Amino acid sequence: MTLHLDFTNMMAPAVPTGPTEDEWRALASRFESVHQAVERDALSGRYGFAELDAQAAEQARVVAYAESVRGAFDDVVVLGIGGSALGATALRTALCDTDWNARTAAARAGQPRLHVYENVDPRSIAARLDSVEFARTLFLVISKSGGTAETMAQYLLVRARLEAAGLPLARHVAFVTDPTRGLLRPIADREGIPVFSVPANVGGRYSVFTPVGMLPAALVGIDTAALLAGAREVVQRAASQNLAVNGAAVFALLQWRAHTRHGHGIHVMMPYSDALRDIAPWFAQLWAESLGKADADGTAVGPTPVAALGATDQHSQLQLYMQGPADKTVTFLVERSRATDLAIPEPPPGLAGELGYLSGRSFGDLLDAEQRATAAALAHAGRPNQTLSVDQTDARAVGGLLMFLMYATVYAGALYRVDPLNQPGVEAGKLLARAELADGVRSLGSGRWAV
Ligand code: PA5
Repeated sequence: MTLHLDFTNMMAPAVPTGPTEDEWRALASRFESVHQAVERDALSGRYGFAELDAQAAEQARVVAYAESVRGAFDDVVVLGIGGSALGATALRTALCDTDWNARTAAARAGQPRLHVYENVDPRSIAARLDSVEFARTLFLVISKSGGTAETMAQYLLVRARLEAAGLPLARHVAFVTDPTRGLLRPIADREGIPVFSVPANVGGRYSVFTPVGMLPAALVGIDTAALLAGAREVVQRAASQNLAVNGAAVFALLQWRAHTRHGHGIHVMMPYSDALRDIAPWFAQLWAESLGKADADGTAVGPTPVAALGATDQHSQLQLYMQGPADKTVTFLVERSRATDLAIPEPPPGLAGELGYLSGRSFGDLLDAEQRATAAALAHAGRPNQTLSVDQTDARAVGGLLMFLMYATVYAGALYRVDPLNQPGVEAGKLLARAELADGVRSLGSGRWAV
């Protein structure tokens, strides 16, 4: 397995609020019923995100399409939001053309650049559209529902610009959407636009292994077979009730217990890696949107995820984590080895005393030491934390990591007694936004502030 979870600092005696060996055994037997319920639901087809074999035919279409347009585009632009954007962003940052992946980018010479236009701030949309050459750009309109306002607005704009430039839509646009529902499917059928399906039983934030994530990944040369192989490994492990095998279960149990028994309801995800940094906002959406809602008794429950970055946020949020309210857990995300490291040059004689601790070290050593020291210091202050590590940031490990966190979320849903697959609050927000545009302020009532 390319993933490792070190949860020593979530347990007693490392932190006083952590479970003892006896309590851990009790939690393990509690997990048996959670696991049975999840497996039962899986058999009834609820967890499409883990049905990787069922998606093999669509995945083959994705790969064939990516091959068929190889060399035709310099830029691939995702138009999507939330679960239809965050996975592609996490994959791009981890595995392709970013300034911190320069060496990987060189190896990927000739592959198009991937952009994700998530927000609808006109300033950034205007600037970004100006920066691509439409004749060499492929736009992916990604929307499970096929009707989200932000994505539809972006689609209308891009469509109008392509038409104005006399460029064929069927060549410069592809859709990813529900197999039957929504506005995009009939447009695709009518206009011959290539369209790929998100299975009906996979929601936005769980869709990274469907064409939502796999199409942009394949188009920019990410090894989707390796991503899926890593994900499959976690699916196999999730078949086990044994906590020594099923690490996603350990993650869920410890986070849920820290929250519900000790009020540690703020769950910080802190990668110590620029390549893994966008997995934190992807996880934040998954954890928040899946778990923050009314439970089976109607009580409002749910942890609050926070995305942070090491070592940068040691000089920012860490003060709060160390000495602020004891209401948090911290999960560090680390790489055990990295493709690139840099030696820190020997300090000149005048600085050899003060900077001697850097002598013979690399930047990777510095980053790793800072992470280990932070974990130890938090534990010393009684603050629970755990370290989730990958051997190295490659497609297989990233695939495993994303699937691990999706399983952890589903287990946490069962523990919090919520449906981790729905998002009634988000849907209500979408309706309110439409009403606001259609009817103006009347639909939202009075009571507005102005300064
Ligand atoms: O996870 C979710 O369900 C949401 O974040 C959606 O992904 C987001 O609202 C976009 O929806 P859609 O893909 O239908 O355009």
